Amino acid sequence: MAQDTHVLDRPPEGASADWTIPQNWQAYTAEEHATWDRLYARQAKLLPGRASKAYLKGLDALRLSDSGIPNFEELSERLMKLTGWQVVAVPGLVPDDVFFDHMANRRFVAGNFIRRPDQLDYIQEPDVFHDVFGHVPLLTDPVFADYLEAYGRGGNRALELGALKQLGRLYWYTVEFGLIREDDGLRIYGAGIVSSSAESHFALESDSPNRIGFDLKRVMRTDYRIDDFQQNYFVIPSYDALLRATVETDFAPLYGEILGQPDIPIAEILPGDDVITRGTQDYAKGKAA
Ligand SMILES: [Fe+2]
Repeated sequence: MAQDTHVLDRPPEGASADWTIPQNWQAYTAEEHATWDRLYARQAKLLPGRASKAYLKGLDALRLSDSGIPNFEELSERLMKLTGWQVVAVPGLVPDDVFFDHMANRRFVAGNFIRRPDQLDYIQEPDVFHDVFGHVPLLTDPVFADYLEAYGRGGNRALELGALKQLGRLYWYTVEFGLIREDDGLRIYGAGIVSSSAESHFALESDSPNRIGFDLKRVMRTDYRIDDFQQNYFVIPSYDALLRATVETDFAPLYGEILGQPDIPIAEILPGDDVITRGTQDYAKGKAA
């Protein structure tokens, strides 16, 4: 689930007070299960050697290679045993406080619908493939699982402090579009990348984007784009370092500091950046031309 603006103020008809709905797994058609299988097969071929080891381990541990859209109850049972997380269905995007509250209680909210066969490469709203294939495998990693819970707790604090945009950027540049440095090179772990065939290549192999060492304050000041490949990727040294950077930081003074500073434009490189690759930005320039 992307953290984004929501469209409704209260749960729609049929949803519980916490916005969850039954996944209604029995109602998926054979065509919908086949869409999952096609998307799965395509990514499963691409990801070895590109995705983080912890992500690939999670795919196996959750048996996501089984044919068809996963049943959230079975998935939650496996996940619960590993890290105490569950997957719950929601009807699309939910309000920020609801999103944070689920996360702080180790419930990952996932859309239950799947994209149409003519939308394999692009969807506007996160579907079950993005949410489950993209996000859930890393929740089997105990450290990343703790990070996401801490993020949920930090979310309601950011709401109170008027820093939702800043915290949202942290989610964007880690949970959705993060890269990690592993022993044998850079790997992808963000859900927006691992669930996208084109961005799985682009994020690692293209000369166009900047790849910059992760810095909490820097990330929270950096704009991003939601409708195309990223122009910046931030690289964490480990999930442990990411977790520590967030739980060991007192966010109130940090927000106080960065709310008074200008936002950093999307593709800009700053003097203090740990630049891993300086991008040509040719992709973005080509689009603008
Ligand atoms: Fe997402």
